[in-house]
Amino acid sequence: MKAVVATDEAAGTAGMKLVERPEPQAAINDVVVEIHASGFVPTEMAWPSTWTDRLDRDRTPVIPGHELAGVVTTLGYGTSGLLVGQRVFGLTDWYRDGTLAQYAAVEARNLAPLPDDVDFTVGASLPISGLTAWQGLFQHGRLQAGQNVLAHGAAGAVGSMVAQLAREAGAYVIGTGRAADRQTALDFGAQEFVDLEHDALEDVGGIDLVFDVIGGDIGKRSAALIRAGGTLVSIVGPPEARPADGLAIDFVVESDRAQLSEIVQRVRDGRLRTNIGNVATLDDAVAALNPTDRVTGKTIIRIRP
Ligand SMILES: NC(=O)c1ccc[n+]([C@@H]2O[C@H](COP(=O)([O-])OP(=O)(O)OC[C@H]3O[C@@H](n4cnc5c(N)ncnc54)[C@H](OP(=O)(O)O)[C@@H]3O)[C@@H](O)[C@H]2O)c1
Repeated sequence: MKAVVATDEAAGTAGMKLVERPEPQAAINDVVVEIHASGFVPTEMAWPSTWTDRLDRDRTPVIPGHELAGVVTTLGYGTSGLLVGQRVFGLTDWYRDGTLAQYAAVEARNLAPLPDDVDFTVGASLPISGLTAWQGLFQHGRLQAGQNVLAHGAAGAVGSMVAQLAREAGAYVIGTGRAADRQTALDFGAQEFVDLEHDALEDVGGIDLVFDVIGGDIGKRSAALIRAGGTLVSIVGPPEARPADGLAIDFVVESDRAQLSEIVQRVRDGRLRTNIGNVATLDDAVAALNPTDRVTGKTIIRIRP
């Protein structure tokens, strides 16, 4: 099969190559999916799990990409819950070969059915951003209607999902980002916008939940904006500062079939909009994943037309 591989951590996405690789085999409880569309998070090349297996052994050349939408072609021994020919989407194991390829082997429990009226490109754009926003807001952040949410990077892949889901849940949403992202963040449901390049973040206060996708100095300054009993949720590692009288949580997204189904249902009925930027073919994937200009929205690689 055709696949994008990476062999050199230091080279990052610039070291990616399109090559021929053996098709994956289905292990116990796996399915093999014929991939139609694949999602990739640029920071993946810096994650330890991209380069090793769970025993810390080198697994290069690796196939990056952990989001897919496609069709099940094979069931592994004992696999239940999915059928050959079924349309699926979901999040694949961080430590295994991924989705920038024509086929991937995935544990069935990591996938959910993709409804017939949802395009594969849309399906591949949802797993990481949708599940991360959902888990950060509702599981880790325990968001309640009427609370104030500070959604950092609200024009980005995760932030745009955070803004929309928080708004739908009855929160008041303040989005942040670069000056050029103001309108996009407002379009995704933020009621106010803080331009992190020109506005004073400290003018915002009384926040119940900060959803941090940026970290560093922005993360540190955000802790002080949280009111008593509030929560700082970080997806960029352990927070460097904690709220004086609140919780600080960091987590890594996990697959969840029920949550994937909730998310895709919201897309179908118009409550949730995807944030797709560039869509490229597998032949053009390496160039698309090495953009020369600023990219907005998720890059999706359309593996099959
Ligand atoms: N823990 C987890 O489970 C998990 C899951 C998903 C993602 N992540 C991580 O979360 C981060 C965001 O992911 P994403 O896919 O949402 O990325 P993204 O689509 O690039 O969104 C981030 C947004 O924040 C903006 N931003 C970043 N730094 C900024 C700054 N200093 N000032 C103003 N705006 C800034 C970005 O603008 P620019 O593009 O101009 O920088 C972009 O609009 C990544 O580090 C990713 O690895 C973690």
